[in-house]
Amino acid sequence: MRDPREETIPHADGSGFNRRDFLRGSGAAVAVTALATSEQGATAQDAAKKNVVSAKAQDVTLNVNGKDHKLSLEPRVTLLDTLRDDLNLTGCKDVCDTTNCGACTVLIDGKPTYACSRLAHECVGKKVTTIESLAANDPVVAGFVKHDAQQCGFCTPGFVMATKAFCDKNPGATLAQVRSGLGGNICRCGTYVGITACAMELVTKKGGK
Ligand code: FES
Ligand code: FES
Repeated sequence: MRDPREETIPHADGSGFNRRDFLRGSGAAVAVTALATSEQGATAQDAAKKNVVSAKAQDVTLNVNGKDHKLSLEPRVTLLDTLRDDLNLTGCKDVCDTTNCGACTVLIDGKPTYACSRLAHECVGKKVTTIESLAANDPVVAGFVKHDAQQCGFCTPGFVMATKAFCDKNPGATLAQVRSGLGGNICRCGTYVGITACAMELVTKKGGK
């Protein structure tokens, strides 16, 4: 059956804009309002500005975790669905699918990004990094274990990737900066104390303090 979210809404300029993109754009706007200080918020806003016209599957090559993958994908397919369904990289979680929770966070060219807010076709020519690329002794992974920063684990892969991106970019960050920088991710189990402790330890070490 036809997905009503895929119905094409004509633009004044003659281009097409499907309902799913509209809904996603609305979600991004809400997320940006709530997460104005997070990098993911800005990324979602960028994604919301893009208009995508539905079309048939096309051949693309996506670079994920340093490896090129040749895929045939419809332009409407999200990066999140591609990672999980086509590449079997299920670390990134599909929780809200509306840019509100951060469970799907991956890195695109080093920037933390909601994979549910990006179309796979937008990622051609970019480097996508998922939690599967991190070894067990990665400092962020080890830090989460050390600080007991997970319970059910649904938010954890996204939080790990967001923490990695933040700590790499912000050595010597303050507690307030850590909290703000990780503000694009939500944990319903309330593991913020452990996550924040892990991030503070990493930025303090990187800052040479
Ligand atoms: S699943 Fe992408 S932000 Fe929640
Ligand atoms: S550990 Fe359960 S949602 Fe974060």
